[in-house]
Amino acid sequence: MAQTIQVKDKTFAVSIPEAQIQAEVRRVAKEIVRDYQGQNPVFLAVLNGSFIFAADLLREVDMPCEVSFVRLASYQGVSTTGEIREIMGLNVDVTGRPVIIVEDIVDTGLTMAHMLDTLRRHNPSSIDICTLLLKPGKLQVSLDIRYCCLQIPNDFIVGYGLDYDGYGRNTKDIYTLVQ
Ligand code: IMP
Ligand code: MG
Repeated sequence: MAQTIQVKDKTFAVSIPEAQIQAEVRRVAKEIVRDYQGQNPVFLAVLNGSFIFAADLLREVDMPCEVSFVRLASYQGVSTTGEIREIMGLNVDVTGRPVIIVEDIVDTGLTMAHMLDTLRRHNPSSIDICTLLLKPGKLQVSLDIRYCCLQIPNDFIVGYGLDYDGYGRNTKDIYTLVQ
């Protein structure tokens, strides 16, 4: 594994090696299988960042479930109320079903808070959050995160699906910005 990589104009150093990521993904998958036995959940993976995490996680989830991919669209409101986020591509009926959101990283938590608000309008029976990464030091809203693979410091990271300006998603390890 490369110890440092260049992504566009920035240098990143390995911070979470592949083996550690995979061990934590397997641990969380086991927790989900234990908690959701017989419940037929719908996994909603949030694009783009979670595509690799979702692929690895779901292959460890050995029970009947559906998988769908959604994207969050931001719109500038016509009033001064700010940004409105909508869920694009929710093409599975989640009414009355348990939903597990699969996210790459929760930073301020604002994206996830919007996602929860919007998803609740589709009346699922329950919603749990499953995130690969969490930056507890950056969290601005109170979120109940049931499944989390790894907690990390406030630094900017790339790899394993996460990007810097669209690049750097296609690595097996996770890298931290070198200041
Ligand atoms: P939040 O709304 O502040 O929680 O931000 C969530 C989104 O910001 C994530 O889904 C990522 O797309 C992006 N993000 C936050 N921190 C990082 C990082 O360290 N590297 C890459 N993307 C990040
Ligand atoms: Mg994301």
